[in-house]
Amino acid sequence: MALQNINPTKTKAWEKLTNHFNENKDINIKDLYKNASRKEDFSIEFDDLLVDFSKNRITEETISLLVELAKEVNLKDAIEKQFNGEVINVTEGREVLHTALRSTSEEPVLVNGKNIKPQIQTALRKIRSFSNKVISGKWKGYTGKAITDVVNIGIGGSDLGPDMIVESLQYYKNHLTTHFVSNIDGDHVSEIIKKLNPETTLFVIVSKTFTTQETITNAETIKNWFLKSATIFDIPKHFVAVSTNLEAVDNFGIDKTNVFPMWNWVGGRFSLWSAVGLSISLSVGFDNYRALLDGAEEMDLHFRNTDFNENIPVILALLSIWYNNFYGAETEAVLPYTQYLKKLPDYLQQAIMESNGKGVDRNGDKIDYQTGTIVWGSTGTNMQHAFMQLVHQGTKLIPADFIGYKQSLYGLTDHHKKLMANYYAQMDALAFGKTKEEVHLELKFSGDEDKISQLLPFKVFEGNRPSNAILFDKLTPHSLGKLVALYEHKIYTQGILWNIYSYDQFGVELGKELAKKLLNKQ
Ligand code: F6P
Repeated sequence: MALQNINPTKTKAWEKLTNHFNENKDINIKDLYKNASRKEDFSIEFDDLLVDFSKNRITEETISLLVELAKEVNLKDAIEKQFNGEVINVTEGREVLHTALRSTSEEPVLVNGKNIKPQIQTALRKIRSFSNKVISGKWKGYTGKAITDVVNIGIGGSDLGPDMIVESLQYYKNHLTTHFVSNIDGDHVSEIIKKLNPETTLFVIVSKTFTTQETITNAETIKNWFLKSATIFDIPKHFVAVSTNLEAVDNFGIDKTNVFPMWNWVGGRFSLWSAVGLSISLSVGFDNYRALLDGAEEMDLHFRNTDFNENIPVILALLSIWYNNFYGAETEAVLPYTQYLKKLPDYLQQAIMESNGKGVDRNGDKIDYQTGTIVWGSTGTNMQHAFMQLVHQGTKLIPADFIGYKQSLYGLTDHHKKLMANYYAQMDALAFGKTKEEVHLELKFSGDEDKISQLLPFKVFEGNRPSNAILFDKLTPHSLGKLVALYEHKIYTQGILWNIYSYDQFGVELGKELAKKLLNKQ
């Protein structure tokens, strides 16, 4: 049975939420914080993860009405349909089973009546054995030398996920140097090539369709460069592919044994858990890759089995809807307080905006309410010296996720204490601000009394700006898997609530078609 088709704005819960919003829209986080148990009441703990959503413009009633909305649109049923492999990507006629890729349970998941778990396990074994051979140096290049560099050639979901994870897990990296080529801009590939030795480089061509213009163009350029030093008989030692399109891979000249599978039931932007993640396994080793999958699986189980009012992805999705659809906020910031996660905002831009940037509902009708949020961000503390001025004192309401870690990886405690002091201080400043009275006193005691009338309005922080603290013990492959899966489930939850199809991306097609036409005219 297909997903239900319910316009959220026509539900009883929406009407109640509208009334609740009209009555409470001026509530202030500072006032809400007068309740001593506020933090505790609006926090969820899940093993090594604590999500504190107390600094939001919400009351218990807001959450209960938002949960009512999730129930009224039958989110539970939609979650089960996704996990059970129903064709919920209706417009492309596909199941959506990235969750099956990380599942360790024996429970079968059927696609066309066939359990897909065995093929997932076979692919994982192939990834493990191949990664081990390359990392240990048993896999030799055409002159008998071990591999030193790995180049992932892909774009979109075939690039952003692996690139973000490899960057985020740098601390766990082995001796191999990993590069990512994505842009059709020839300068990108040229800059990478100049660092490479063909004798010791492994190229991983990642393309679900194996027709993507950028990827195929880059792969051809690299193959031609490679063939200047080697012969076509050397290709099997240096080129592997991850794809569903075996014929195109074969035409490219890649050996059958060097093809890693992809499946139509895995969407590009949710594919890092499949062989698309091969460059991750090559960079940090298979055990760390498996730990990433395990962390994601823990979040899957939490999402599937936890009541909505304690369910982290659901709560974060509902809060986002609260600001997007009631307060009219258009963007959300993702602000990791670790330099390792500097590529997370880019990755999430594809995951979130390609999924939920839709203007037509599941009925095919034009939508008259807001859907997908614009997501952006950067790492703390750098961004405090860049765009945070606007978030603190600008005219826009920008809810923000602050991602932090209790421990640093290198144990530089002085740095980490300062980092985390900033992490908490930013959220406090956003929520509680600084009043006129406080500014007045501050100027008075700093000896600037004469400047009070001139400076006071500029130094006031109105506060009441929402944030979520997403705090893990430590950045590990396991906790990273959990974090990424959290956002994946938030995306799906929002898509269900907005009554859209989150798993297609027809909006990227027209530009591609027109570019092809223009190219043919040249
Ligand atoms: O940008 C559109 C898109 O289809 C993404 O969804 C996908 O991740 C990317 O292109 C790459 O596609 P492929 O893996 O088929 O090369």
